[in-house]
Amino acid sequence: MPGTYKTVQTTLKSSPRTWLITGVAGFIGSNLLETLLTLDQKVIGLDNFSTGFQHNLDEVQSRVSDEHWQLFTFIKGDICNLETCRQSCSGVDYVLHQAALGSVPRSIEDPLITNENNISGFLNMLVAARDENVQRFVYAASSSTYGDHPGLPKVEDETGNPLSPYAVTKLVNELYAEVFARAYNFKTIGLRYFNIFGQRQDPNGAYAAVIPMWFAGLIKNDTVYINGDGETSRDFCFIDNAVQANLLAATVNDEAAVDQVYNVAFGERTTLNELYQLIKERVVTANAATGEARPQYRDFRAGDVRHSLADISKAKEHIGYDPQFSVQNGLDKAAKWYLTNLD
Ligand SMILES: NC(=O)c1ccc[n+]([C@@H]2O[C@H](COP(=O)([O-])OP(=O)(O)OC[C@H]3O[C@@H](n4cnc5c(N)ncnc54)[C@H](O)[C@@H]3O)[C@@H](O)[C@H]2O)c1
Repeated sequence: MPGTYKTVQTTLKSSPRTWLITGVAGFIGSNLLETLLTLDQKVIGLDNFSTGFQHNLDEVQSRVSDEHWQLFTFIKGDICNLETCRQSCSGVDYVLHQAALGSVPRSIEDPLITNENNISGFLNMLVAARDENVQRFVYAASSSTYGDHPGLPKVEDETGNPLSPYAVTKLVNELYAEVFARAYNFKTIGLRYFNIFGQRQDPNGAYAAVIPMWFAGLIKNDTVYINGDGETSRDFCFIDNAVQANLLAATVNDEAAVDQVYNVAFGERTTLNELYQLIKERVVTANAATGEARPQYRDFRAGDVRHSLADISKAKEHIGYDPQFSVQNGLDKAAKWYLTNLD
């Protein structure tokens, strides 16, 4: 039986460890940082600010005590540089590898840069972590690995053909992690994230994710676009659930739980039309003068799968994953953050 999240938190507090978070200035990385610092952990963070921001780190600093902030060391650098990866991994117990170029459309426009960051960078991190004797390497995998497999819900060992260069890179990450287990007995766990959302997810730019983009659009009364007929569905998962999965994966003791990949989702499907209503309700409740813009439907987006829903029983059974935030609860928290930070 894996430990519960509560017991993991208590154990970490009583015997702090050293963690490396790559992509620490990004959405998921900065949320991991905040949680680990509040648990008294020593954290090294690596980021090149390609899609992350100093203001995410500043916000974490403003939310933790001075004593906790002293536990953090930031390295501005690139995972495409092996020497930087080696320096960052020195003395580290657990790596939470988040650094990558996200976004399916970005990868379709520029497959080379996605490949360089997501595959060469990933391999550098694996080599560096192996050579520095890191105990566990937990990495951000992706639901895009299910590709064109029609089955719902998605179970970890039934994947289809990748639909984008981004999906290829995330699949290759899993293959490299598997090979590092076989060839070097190196301990990894891949977390296949399904549409993670929450505080500090960037609402700006051509490759913004749907939830932050719609919060921003509705708050500013800008046009909100829905790709396709709006009946496309996703398993949206609040960030705190993903943070929980990372801490559980890094610390699980059971050998059988390691060198595996796990779905990280809530386990419910929401269509884009439903999502639009949920976000609109929250924005309009906070400020009746907002949320006026009507959605505009446009073409389906290349490389997108029609439906996505995770079976999360493997993560529940093997690492003790127990997501606490439903989509609605998560949207309540996200709404508070976007209304404070975008208004
Ligand atoms: N957010 C999601 O729904 C989701 C879903 C599936 C997978 N993922 C994966 O989770 C991870 C984190 O995603 P996120 O949503 O926090 O994205 P993000 O863009 O907010 O964070 C990624 C961070 O990595 C940094 N980075 C990128 N390339 C780097 C490099 N070469 N060297 C150093 N730092 C680099 C960026 O500057 C950024 O701070 C990524 O690997 C992404 O592919 C995210």
